[in-house]
Amino acid sequence: MPTTKAKVLRILEENRGQTISGAKLAKALNISRAAVWKVIEELRNEGFKINAKANKGYNLAESSDILSVEGILLHSQNSQIKREQIHVYKTLESTNQLAKKMAVAGVSHGTVILAEEQTQGRGRLGRSFFSPKGTGLYMSIILCPKGTMDQAMLTTTAASVAVCRAFSKVLGIDSQIKWVNDIFVNNRKVCGILTEALSNFETGSIESLILGIGINVSTEKNQFPEEIKEVAGSLREKNSPNTVSRNQLAASIINEIFTVYETVNPQDFISEYKSRCFVLGKEIRVYRGLDQYNAKAIDIDSQGALIIERPDGSKETLNSGEISIRSKTD
Ligand code: BTN
Repeated sequence: MPTTKAKVLRILEENRGQTISGAKLAKALNISRAAVWKVIEELRNEGFKINAKANKGYNLAESSDILSVEGILLHSQNSQIKREQIHVYKTLESTNQLAKKMAVAGVSHGTVILAEEQTQGRGRLGRSFFSPKGTGLYMSIILCPKGTMDQAMLTTTAASVAVCRAFSKVLGIDSQIKWVNDIFVNNRKVCGILTEALSNFETGSIESLILGIGINVSTEKNQFPEEIKEVAGSLREKNSPNTVSRNQLAASIINEIFTVYETVNPQDFISEYKSRCFVLGKEIRVYRGLDQYNAKAIDIDSQGALIIERPDGSKETLNSGEISIRSKTD
């Protein structure tokens, strides 16, 4: 059951930018005007930009961009996602870390965890993921596939395509994929995906899959730490007239992930993955554990693995690892 605060927020979200009188809110929710005022104050303390006009009422500013269950539900066309499956936090060490705990505790397929900031955001290969407050989208989706590791890999591949589709639909932004799962816009990494699996040791099957998605929405260039400054970028440049509603973006990504997840024919999104994958045909450096070598990226197979050709002409299929594109001088 939504709380009174959630109900007030829902009405304000539905009428974003328009003023609703305290009396109307009070009547709709069957509470006193004083109770409405109290809830508005609580929401303001949580960071929502709510304007109050004397004798007119309240409105949620167009620029207010705080993550909320109500905001996500409002933009969610996916009837599968239920209110109780969306969990929004102000701060977490890592949404993936909490998602794992929740998956072990047995939460349902499709549970989503989001945070305004992560203090120990995790990246692939043991790296950290820079997750400053309010300027990114950090979320983990728990999926309970009935399948093997191969299907798990395909789900990760599908997630990259889903994120690109959401960027295009919500923001009209064209994005490319760097194998395995980095999303680039204007030659800068704006999104990373970390998939973690919980498997059944005895049967070898995957019990749950945690899809962790981190997006730099409006993080400014000079905010990024030195080590990622040259590569990292954001969806929205400073002072850009195009505002991004992180709730809308989150809802769209969740929706697209469910769509690709249920795709009967995975080759539909594999072909889109390939067309967005900017490493194909390029000379690359492959990093696998302590091993590293030069190769050419040739193709993506039906499981989302990268097919490479080594200088001696031998071909290899990479299921995991890290690559970089070599410049002519490398
Ligand atoms: C990478 O680029 O190496 C992957 C980054 C994945 C970051 C996301 S943010 C939400 C989720 N929680 C985490 O701790 N990591 C993932």
